[in-house]
Amino acid sequence: MSNQVRLDRFLANNGVGSRAEVKKLIRAGKVLINGTGAVSGDRKMDPETDEVLVDGKKIQREVVPVIMLNKPAGVVSATEDGRSATVIDLIHEPWAKKLFPVGRLDKDTEGLLILTQDGAMAHELLSPTKHVRKTYFAVVSGAPDASLIDHFREGIDIGEKRRTLPAVLVFLSPDGGRDTSAGTISESDYARCGADECCVLITITEGKFHQIKRMFAAFGREVHFLKRIAMGDLALDPSLSPGEYRPVTDEELKRLQEGRENG
Ligand code: URA
Repeated sequence: MSNQVRLDRFLANNGVGSRAEVKKLIRAGKVLINGTGAVSGDRKMDPETDEVLVDGKKIQREVVPVIMLNKPAGVVSATEDGRSATVIDLIHEPWAKKLFPVGRLDKDTEGLLILTQDGAMAHELLSPTKHVRKTYFAVVSGAPDASLIDHFREGIDIGEKRRTLPAVLVFLSPDGGRDTSAGTISESDYARCGADECCVLITITEGKFHQIKRMFAAFGREVHFLKRIAMGDLALDPSLSPGEYRPVTDEELKRLQEGRENG
């Protein structure tokens, strides 16, 4: 399928100048598409196949990778925020401003956050009908209680129109065993689990506001630490410290999109 975009947007997104500046260049006849002078910025072009020259210099499409970030606590999952640092501020790349986070983690939540410039991909991963699995490690107040496992599976009233969709809860400590299979839960994560607290893994397929905190709050419990360790079948790379990032490989991208319950 042809991937047509506006010429002025293509030029502005690929470092030629601001929208106003590129419009001036177009009006001055300095922009050629496939050898023909472009007359207006709203002309559509295909970045894959069309050759664009500005003052005789070929404009290459900048390839912006999908990014896996280990989000640290204290930054907000947004592109801009008047008060706090955002996840975009952590990406030290010339194309950082083109990225946006796929969904939100709370300011105090850590772990796997995907950043992309691909709106269609983000929509696929966020759509409530796609049920992409999201797995979290949490430190929760109180001792392990197996009855919660059934409640989480059956759905919980968190004050929304409908109960939450079935969630999988696993107690990891102190007497529920440990699951470090993905390598994404470190010894220092476990060490956060103190007296009268328990460590859990929880997998949900929705993304309601403060969902996990509200699910535990329904049973009088507080979430003291929350870290997302996987989305779909894509696990957080354990070699990434909080604040570090790397591009997602094509194979990982496939795994991310395969981790749906019904699709
Ligand atoms: N649930 C929460 O409560 N917070 C998050 O950041 C993610 C899921």
